Amino acid sequence: MSLIRLLINRESHEVESAPETPLLWVLRDGLNLTGTKYGCGIGACGACTVHLDGEPVRSCQTAVSRVGNRHITTIEGLSADNSHPLQRAWIAEQVPQCGYCQPGQIMQAAGLLAKLPHPTDDEIDQAMAGNLCRCGVYQRIRRAIHRAAKGA
Ligand code: FES
Ligand code: FES
Repeated sequence: MSLIRLLINRESHEVESAPETPLLWVLRDGLNLTGTKYGCGIGACGACTVHLDGEPVRSCQTAVSRVGNRHITTIEGLSADNSHPLQRAWIAEQVPQCGYCQPGQIMQAAGLLAKLPHPTDDEIDQAMAGNLCRCGVYQRIRRAIHRAAKGA
């Protein structure tokens, strides 16, 4: 076990962890940040997506010791009061069905809009292709991303 310092949602945390532990488990089990979900554990579903310095990554595939000084943002830290344009658009379009995949979808979409503020359908499909939804709400996800891009 090692003492590892992490910057999460603009706050500094020190955690005792084996260096190879996936960031996902440090967030969920160590820090009770349970908005980040476990889906597959093999980097294939996107449910565990968080940002490292604004870049979407799969936290189930990221050893905690490899985060270093990068800023971690989880769904809990995307905005202080659910006012991020994507969160507002998600509510307006009533995107979630069961909801399980949704934190990962929103974090992936936030990474997309940070790079491409007005993505096309193709660009959305490409960026979101690794985020699976067993409820199949892909059309609503796409509509919500367009809505957020318009600031509506
Ligand atoms: S739980 Fe990480 S990609 Fe599925
Ligand atoms: S809303 Fe149920 S898995 Fe996506």
